[in-house]
Amino acid sequence: MKKLTKIMAMAMVSILAMAALTGCGGGSGSIKFGTNAEFPPFEFIAANGVIGEYDGIDIAIAKKIGEDNNMDVSIENMEFDSLLVALQNGQVDAVIAGMTITEERAESVDFSIPYYRATQVIITKPESGIKSAADLSDKFVAVVQGYTGETVIIDLGLNYESFKKGTECIMELVNGKCDAVVIDSATAAKYVADNPGLIIVEDESAFENEEYGIAVKKGNTELLNKINASIQKMLDDQTIAELGDKYSVAE
Ligand code: ARG
Repeated sequence: MKKLTKIMAMAMVSILAMAALTGCGGGSGSIKFGTNAEFPPFEFIAANGVIGEYDGIDIAIAKKIGEDNNMDVSIENMEFDSLLVALQNGQVDAVIAGMTITEERAESVDFSIPYYRATQVIITKPESGIKSAADLSDKFVAVVQGYTGETVIIDLGLNYESFKKGTECIMELVNGKCDAVVIDSATAAKYVADNPGLIIVEDESAFENEEYGIAVKKGNTELLNKINASIQKMLDDQTIAELGDKYSVAE
């Protein structure tokens, strides 16, 4: 009897292992999310992340989308500028990257319903005297290449230089090589918390509200519907609000 139970247990284990390997177990496939894990608190590398070494609000959301739909989820990390191309050529199924929904991007991909609201802010040193976006006119600004912050600075006609990563912009500022960094609010709060001597300057009249969405390949309504249903659920039951609190710097 004891032996039989053991055999049955072993059989169960191998069935479960098979299910995990094939990604079935009643599941309906897998979703590969592309991200750029250089954007705390939305995505960053951590020793023990939510999915492998990836952690953050977006990664937790991606995991939930997988759970809601009984699908396996994996993350592919790449440069921010490559994400939408990777989506179009089928390298990834969806992009979750604190990505602002813009008309221009929506020409090449489809966006989910918005899941997070943000705005651009200015990071500077108190001694710069910068109190608004207008004060940047005779200053030098660092932005990240391809981010909406870069677009905003170009539209304002300011002097700027683009870098590959937010942390590089912050180093420029800390080292006195630029006067300000313009980047998304929650990420700015993280950088300022990590780097003493920096402050955040908000300017609601200059910087519009932005909304983050998950992107899928144009016409992939099957996946988009699943993602939207899951996001709506996470907005309704406060999951996303709680993740925001958990990962963000208290203001
Ligand atoms: N919200 C900004 C944009 O869409 C910045 C996003 C950066 N995200 C990232 N994972 N690096 O352009």
